[in-house]
Amino acid sequence: CRVAAVVPAAGCGERMAHSVPKQYLPVSGRPLVIHCLTALQEVPWVARVVVVADDLARMLGVVQQARLSKVTVIQGGGSRHRSICAGVEALAEDPPDVVVVHDGVRPLLPLTILTQVVVAAERYGVAGTVRPLVSTVVKPDPKGFLEESLTRTHYRNSEMPQAFRFDVLREAYRRCSEDELDHGTECLALAFHHAGIRAKLVPGTPHLWKVTEERDLVVARTLLPRHHR
Ligand code: C5P
Repeated sequence: CRVAAVVPAAGCGERMAHSVPKQYLPVSGRPLVIHCLTALQEVPWVARVVVVADDLARMLGVVQQARLSKVTVIQGGGSRHRSICAGVEALAEDPPDVVVVHDGVRPLLPLTILTQVVVAAERYGVAGTVRPLVSTVVKPDPKGFLEESLTRTHYRNSEMPQAFRFDVLREAYRRCSEDELDHGTECLALAFHHAGIRAKLVPGTPHLWKVTEERDLVVARTLLPRHHR
């Protein structure tokens, strides 16, 4: 099975108060995005990695400095879906069987989880990683009063990595609306609604967390090995 990866790493990380976008912030001696790209580079059966950036020159610079031979940089941005879609199209000329999607701001990518989602995607068409909810999810009404409260044990957080048969994800992006491209947040939902495939859900680990807020950087700097070169 031929496997490639798309790493969305555009956008500016609005929930962090830095002038530098979070994917370029230094973590243990390297820009944050380089950690997950290195993890993918080191997996022998991942043939190609496309990283999607909105500042091409900056991303090319950090990728070249890290000497990541499997990684190509392409232009994305606009929205998360538009970035991932651009990555998928970049692979289309020589399509892989399975494409993995992993966020550039999720620095850890355990090989066991990556393997499980790829094997599940090969078998079922689509696979995602999930974690138990830490807090209960509630839906407020427009006036700020409780409209609905979900039973926590029935739900999961959808995390990354996710994996798709390449033609399934490409077809889902072809069929979805402009509105979904701009505002959607979840590829599993696209594959369900537009390719009719229900994702197999694989239990993840806390290490798959996404660097979102300031304190996540402290955690990342503690967990990730320092880079000496
Ligand atoms: O915004 P959020 O933190 O949820 O972003 C998750 C991932 O999506 C990040 O890796 C970010 O770089 C990527 N993204 C993107 N293009 C955008 C917005 C977000 O590639 N326009």
